[in-house]
Amino acid sequence: MRHLATDPHVLLHQLLRVYGDFVRWRGFKDIYLVNHPDFIRPVLSQDYRRFSKRVIDYRVLAQFMGNGLVTNDGPHWVRQHSLIQPLFGSRRVNGFEARINTLTSSLMDEWETRVHGDTLWIDREMSRLTFGIVGATLFGSDLERHAGEVAEIIEVINLYPAEVRALMTLFSWFPTPYNLKWRRAVKRLDRIVYGMIEARRRGGAGDDDILDHLIRALDEESGEGMDERQLRDEVVTLMLAGHETSANALTWTLYLLGTHPDVEARLTESLTETLNGAAATADDLPRLPYLKQVVQESMRIYPPVWCYARRAEQQEEFDGYVLPANAYVVVAPYALHRHPDFWPDPERFDPDRFQPNRGEGRHPYSYLPFGAGPRACIGAGMAMLETQLVLAQILQRFKVHVVSDHPVETTAKVTLRPRYGIPVTLSRR
Ligand code: HEM
Repeated sequence: MRHLATDPHVLLHQLLRVYGDFVRWRGFKDIYLVNHPDFIRPVLSQDYRRFSKRVIDYRVLAQFMGNGLVTNDGPHWVRQHSLIQPLFGSRRVNGFEARINTLTSSLMDEWETRVHGDTLWIDREMSRLTFGIVGATLFGSDLERHAGEVAEIIEVINLYPAEVRALMTLFSWFPTPYNLKWRRAVKRLDRIVYGMIEARRRGGAGDDDILDHLIRALDEESGEGMDERQLRDEVVTLMLAGHETSANALTWTLYLLGTHPDVEARLTESLTETLNGAAATADDLPRLPYLKQVVQESMRIYPPVWCYARRAEQQEEFDGYVLPANAYVVVAPYALHRHPDFWPDPERFDPDRFQPNRGEGRHPYSYLPFGAGPRACIGAGMAMLETQLVLAQILQRFKVHVVSDHPVETTAKVTLRPRYGIPVTLSRR
C-alpha cells in the first residue's frame, strides 16, 4: 500500500516480475495487469465496444480536461477524433519547426547568462519551453500572456499522485482544503481558456492555427460545430497532453545524456558534423538517426506516460487467462519496456537498441510510449519533432552537467516525473 501511494510504477513492475505477464492484484478493486505484448495488442487495438476508457483514471483527468480527446469515449469520441486527428498530419506538424526553433533559441540565449555555475532545474526549464511551444504552435500568441498563471495552475493540478486524486474524485463534493484549491485552479483555467476562445471568435480568423480549426470544425453528419464547453475541453486537453509529456521526455533524455558521457559525446559529434552549429529542420532529421535513437531509448527507460488503463466491456481470454467483464485492465509501459524477454539488460541506457536493423523482428507491442491502436497519441509526430529539434540546439550550444550529489528518483504522477527535480549546471561548447 505504501508503494501504491508513492511509486505505483515500481509496485506494478515488481508484481509483474514476480508473477508473470498476467497478474490479478486483489485489492479494494481487482486490477488486472497485462504485460505480454500478445495480451496488450487486443487491449489496445480493439475499439471502445470491447475495451473502453470507462475507468477511474480518466474520470480523474476529466476533472480538469473535461470531455476532451484523451478522456472522451464511445461514438462522441469517434466524431471528435475524426475532426481533430487530421489537424496533426505531418505536413502541418513539420511546419511548426520554425516556431520550435525560435523558442528554443530564446531559451538558449537566456541560458547564456547562466553558464557560470548557476544551478538550473532542467525539469522546470523544459516544462516552460514545451508549454511555450504548445502555446505558439497550437494557439498562436494567445496563450503566451497567461503562461505564468497557467504554469501555477498546473502545479496545483499535479500536486497529488493519481491514486490520491482517484479517492478525491469519489469525494470531490467534500470541501477539503485540497478540493477547494483544486476547484479554484480549474475555475481560473476556465476563465483563461474561455477568454481565449471568445477573443478569437470576436477577432475572426487568427493564425490558421489549431484553435482556428477547432472553432471552424464542423461535424460532417450534423454540420454543427463544437459548443463552448467542448472547445474548452479540447483546448485544455491539448495544452496539458501536449506539454507535460514532451517536457518529461526532454528532461529524462538530458539526464541520461548527462550521466552517460560516451553517448552524449557521440550524439554531439554527429550533430556538429551534420548541422555545423545550425538549428535542425525536419528535413535534417533523417540524416541524424542517432538523435532519434537516443530519444526512443530514453522513452523506453522513462516512458512519460508510464501506464494507461481500460475497462473490459465483455469477458475476454488470453492464452487461457480469463479477464472478466468490467475488469479494470492496466498496461504499464514502464514495466513493458523492462520486460527481459524483449529488452535484454533492460536498465542499461543503450540507444543502439533502436538501430533500424536491430528493430527487425521486435514485437510491435513491446514498445509503446505513445500507446497503440485507435487511442494512440495523435501528437506523436509533433513530440518526436519537438524533442529532436530542441535537443539538437541545446547539445550544440551547451554541455549539461547533472549536479552529482542530488537524489534523482522517478515519481509517477500523471506523467513520470523526477521526484525531487533535476538540478544541472551548464558550460558553453
Ligand atoms: C513525448 C510526448 C508524448 C507522449 C509520451 C505521449 C503519450 C501518449 C499516450 C501513451 C497516449 C495514449 C493514452 C491511452 O491510451 O490511454 C496519448 C494520447 C494522446 N496524446 Fe499524447 N503524448 C505525447 C505528446 C503529445 C502531444 C505533443 C500532443 C498534442 C499536442 C498529444 C496529444 C494527445 C491526445 C489528444 C491524446 C488522446 C488521443 C485519443 O485518444 O484520441 N500528445 N499520448
